[in-house]
Amino acid sequence: MGVTIVSTSPFADQRPGTSGLRKRTPVFQQPHYLENFVQALFDEAAIPSGSSLVIGGDGRFLNREAIGTIIRMAAGNGVTHVIVGRGGLLSTPAASHLIRQGSAGGIILSASHNPGGPDGDFGIKYNAGNGGPAPESFTNAVATRAASLTSYRIAELPAFDLEAIGRQQVGTLTLDIVDPVRAYADLMATLFDFDAIRALFASGFRLRMDSMHAVTGPYAVEMLERRLGAPAGTVINAVPLPDFGGGHPDPNLTYAHELVEEMFGEHALDFGAASDGDGDRNMILGQRFFVTPSDSLAVLAANATLVPGYRSGLAGVARSMPTSAAVDAVAEKLGIPCFETPTGWKFFGNLLDAGRITLCGEESFGTGSNHVREKDGLWAVLFWLNIVAVRGMSVEAIVREHWATYGRNYYTRYDYEAVPTDAANGVMAHLRAALAALPGTSLGGRTVHAADDFAYTDPVDGSTSAKQGIRVLFTDGARIVYRLSGTGTEGATIRVYIESRETAADRLGMETAVALRALVDVALGLAEIVARTGRTEPTVIT
Ligand code: G1P
Ligand code: ZN
Repeated sequence: MGVTIVSTSPFADQRPGTSGLRKRTPVFQQPHYLENFVQALFDEAAIPSGSSLVIGGDGRFLNREAIGTIIRMAAGNGVTHVIVGRGGLLSTPAASHLIRQGSAGGIILSASHNPGGPDGDFGIKYNAGNGGPAPESFTNAVATRAASLTSYRIAELPAFDLEAIGRQQVGTLTLDIVDPVRAYADLMATLFDFDAIRALFASGFRLRMDSMHAVTGPYAVEMLERRLGAPAGTVINAVPLPDFGGGHPDPNLTYAHELVEEMFGEHALDFGAASDGDGDRNMILGQRFFVTPSDSLAVLAANATLVPGYRSGLAGVARSMPTSAAVDAVAEKLGIPCFETPTGWKFFGNLLDAGRITLCGEESFGTGSNHVREKDGLWAVLFWLNIVAVRGMSVEAIVREHWATYGRNYYTRYDYEAVPTDAANGVMAHLRAALAALPGTSLGGRTVHAADDFAYTDPVDGSTSAKQGIRVLFTDGARIVYRLSGTGTEGATIRVYIESRETAADRLGMETAVALRALVDVALGLAEIVARTGRTEPTVIT
């Protein structure tokens, strides 16, 4: 078996963002582009000889070819054992679980919730042996190396078959093709009360799960329909397609429209759920009722001891900074620590590894726990089903009772997508310059308590991350946050997060848009959004 050393010219644009390197598909199709980045990954990861590497992706366009290339490059770089999901498929949480079964690390191919196909997006990231996204120090080193590489190593291997479950000896490489679903489904069965959920379905409870033609279809069918007895057809759009059926596999009120129409329509079922391209995001709906991701995290934390895997309680919880403080109120009542981290799942890894937290989440439809080191869409759905089964209450009733107990955090996010980079940077620079003068001033009837550019010191390893988003905090618990997205592939995306806190019983049932109207005006005015970007409306309101 020969190894070819191929000359390449370095790529200066291979700097991973919030979750890996994400680009338009044609960018990844440039000659040597993928190979250059993968070589930089292998150089930095220095996988010890004899240890295994997990490879899988969400099945989008280019997934299979990329996996073939990465397998050959793994062999070319001295890796002797590779584990791949059948057909190259692995959801991100299932990949995290597999890595944690004893591999040195893993390579996950996905652009998450971004559309796929020849005109869509593609992405790649490296997860370390704990199953979690590599830390910033690693991704920075990879970017630096990718910008100076002059060659990569690729092995000439005999043919191999990604469809045949079992072990193949391919030259010097041992290739294990595994069922992408089984180990993950078995893990879920250890965490949740499958008997209680089975009884719930047997009683006539009706669920709709929208897999959006992305990776979770086979997982959801196996667990919900086969193991838990939900009727056949419960899972819709269950077959993963390379272009996600032309859709945008992002589980929110805008893009999961088929599910939303059903759940807000006349014939709404009891429970609706959706997940994204690679299966780590989730949306939870009750009958004509939307659960915000921030509230979802808080409800899971408050009800965790009803679920077998969390019966002994939570060590602590964490949320990303822009996520609403709903979970903070639960942590306070439970007397457990609540950590506030920068955006992106990688910041939860150290806290989970150190046993400081059990549950964590982000406002961007991400929830997870210490069972893997990624957020996990189907896990969140099962957690909710378990709570509903035990409490015998509807999703809406559970959330309303939660607000009555802990108070309500009204929350909305405005996204301005594909803004020219200069204009977006101008908005942030303008806000930074304004920060110092804000405390004590009155805006829209509220008084600014503090304003800063969020900086984080990891409580476990002491590493620091600066400039993670601008926060304007008001004395009554309201808050405005501004940051630029790290996952976009076109221009810049400005995100504005707006939140107010309410505890008065007669003010818990307002429309979010009504409750936040004045604060939204303050937020957009302070940032001079219209003047600086020319945008009178956001691209998406969540
Ligand atoms: C977005 C979300 C963030 C999430 C990431 C990956 O990143 O805001 O919470 O971790 O996608 O799913 P952003 O584009 O804001 O950098
Ligand atoms: Zn995702």
